[in-house]
Amino acid sequence: MLLVQRYRAALAEARERTLALVAPVSEANLNSQHHPLMSPLVWDLGHIAAFEDLWLCQRAGGLAPLRDDLSEVYDAAETPRAQRSEIPYLRRNEALVYMAHVRERALEVLENADLSPGVSRIDDPAVSLNADGFVWEMLVQHEHQHNETMLQTLQLVGPDVYSPPRRGLPERKPEAGPLTVHVPDGPFAMGDPGLGFAYDNERPRHEVHVPGFHIDRTPVTNGAYLEFVQDGGYANEELWSSEGWRWRTGEQIERPLYWDAEGNERRFELVMPVEAEMPVMHVSFYEAEAFARWRGARLPTEAEWEKAAVFDPASGSVRRQPWGEEVASPARANVDQMAFGPAPVGSLPEGASPCGALGMIGDAWEWTASGFEPYPGFSPFPYREYSEVFFGGPYRALRGGSWATRPSVARATFRNWDHPERRQVFTGFRCAQEAP
Ligand SMILES: [Fe+2]
Repeated sequence: MLLVQRYRAALAEARERTLALVAPVSEANLNSQHHPLMSPLVWDLGHIAAFEDLWLCQRAGGLAPLRDDLSEVYDAAETPRAQRSEIPYLRRNEALVYMAHVRERALEVLENADLSPGVSRIDDPAVSLNADGFVWEMLVQHEHQHNETMLQTLQLVGPDVYSPPRRGLPERKPEAGPLTVHVPDGPFAMGDPGLGFAYDNERPRHEVHVPGFHIDRTPVTNGAYLEFVQDGGYANEELWSSEGWRWRTGEQIERPLYWDAEGNERRFELVMPVEAEMPVMHVSFYEAEAFARWRGARLPTEAEWEKAAVFDPASGSVRRQPWGEEVASPARANVDQMAFGPAPVGSLPEGASPCGALGMIGDAWEWTASGFEPYPGFSPFPYREYSEVFFGGPYRALRGGSWATRPSVARATFRNWDHPERRQVFTGFRCAQEAP
């Protein structure tokens, strides 16, 4: 009964946040597609509900679809984002009614669901989706993840559409410290241990030998990135990969996405001078790579990133999060849409990882050097379209979550991925170097 109550509360809380995020958006802005990269916001709302109907009501509860006519409209794989303005998606009021109706059905299923523990589901996809509440947690996190995509859209649309419901951050000062910290040579356990919820791509946990290296103590700051810009980094072909240079010159990229030529940065409706101590954000993988080369460094691999985040050399074991086992809290990580922007780098010392790295979770996602690939022994669960169809593609793995990520998703083993040229994600990076 305890799990049933927990998911009833978690579903309600997720919905409350989704509706609060879009409350300041006008009906017209909610209904229209603003950018070919992103869905109309109201499509996200209908999709959240359609996904809930599919997994909770139909697959876990055995019900017939509530609206059979909508399943294709809201199938992310069937309708690429660029085409989502042409499909008959529900407009605001109908979408809100549909969301509420699906939720009512889902809660009825939940009341009668058997959420008792099952065996390791990843090894046996036939085991009930309900075991341990797996599919219920997946649906909560799916809605959480769409919150962040919707915020990417709202940031992308320009200054006149959205004034976010900011809750603010405590006043924080960055603490001085070394540029890099050392992570010792040796094996560590990478990936999710298989208890509780994680996506298939985080599993199985496996041992990886990572040679010793140095990693930046904090994400790269706006101030450091500005030096790269002023040093002619965007004009120096030698710093760029050939694909990166082709992209940069083809798109005439000169600076991060939301910087202007006058030295300002836009965050939703606010335009302010670029703040030196904030993490640089909204740069592509190619820009991150060029900066790293300019600094005589490189981007960390996913394994290096995760080892720096959670490996404790004193015990030889890994933590769930950089600071320990607990989920992210405001003192340890800037997540959960508090200020709708990052905090100064290095300002949350309680969030330090065992090697002394700060800000591994929250503020900005971090590009890694790694492509998005399965771990050894990967098995798709519960559906191939979440991860498997993306493996081996042109994507680069992103780690650590951002200020827009909800705490459930902001975990050290979580893997995100995107095209190397994309800049709308709330992403920055940090550099790595060989140990001298
Ligand atoms: Fe989705």
